[in-house]
Amino acid sequence: MKLGVNIDHIATLRNARRINEPDPLMALHVLKEAGADQVTIHLREDRRHIMDFDAKRICENSFLPVNMECSINPEIIDIICSLKPQRATLVPERREEVTTEGGLNVIKFEKEIKKVIEKLHKNEIEVSLFIDPDFEQIKKSKEIGALMVELHTGRYANLHLALNSNINHTPFKIFENFDRKTLKKELELELKLLKDSAKLGKDLGLEVAAGHGLNYQNVKEIANIKEISELNIGHSIIANAIFLGLKEAIIKMKELIN
Ligand code: PXP
Repeated sequence: MKLGVNIDHIATLRNARRINEPDPLMALHVLKEAGADQVTIHLREDRRHIMDFDAKRICENSFLPVNMECSINPEIIDIICSLKPQRATLVPERREEVTTEGGLNVIKFEKEIKKVIEKLHKNEIEVSLFIDPDFEQIKKSKEIGALMVELHTGRYANLHLALNSNINHTPFKIFENFDRKTLKKELELELKLLKDSAKLGKDLGLEVAAGHGLNYQNVKEIANIKEISELNIGHSIIANAIFLGLKEAIIKMKELIN
């Protein structure tokens, strides 16, 4: 199973101080040394972390494949086409969100997404669609020409956290009326949905990745799903890098995955 390391939050830290360090570009050789398979960055419309010059330097200098997450906004897609990363992962974006909430609605935005896929393919950029583990979304992704989907593991991760900690931030408020038994049941159901979705994707001939909210506590069950060939993990690795160093944080995650 491949590991894509999302390095957005190196830029988040730099931008908090509005200076030039830490530089996300410096992470590239550490990722390679630690055995990461891919670098993942998200060029958001609001540029809250990765900026255009980061994306340019990373695409020009990376010796690992670059997976750029992006919305279907035409200006962003033009930038992606000019940068030519290995892959673009199309994600939904809302300015006020803390992080990507929910998957892309491929059924509702079928026409727009299909056009974007065709444009990216013409530019020799692979396309993955970040979607919820939902059978209809998977089938539609295949139908409109995607070769890959990334299953959103956010609900699974939130349920895992709600069950195993007393954290009470907004994403977990939706579970606040759930007792432990219900949380456990919901977690089992969500994991089963991820497994069945991965199987459906694979059976349809799609490559299947997964990501969002994965961490050192919850990654094993997802890594055990044999139809999933890649995980993209950001926040937890960068958070652990503060204490362990980036290389060790990646090695530790790779060990858990393997
Ligand atoms: N995959 C996709 C498509 C994402 O949008 C993100 C968040 O940028 C991730 C993976 C990584 O999520 P996290 O930072 O929670 O590990």
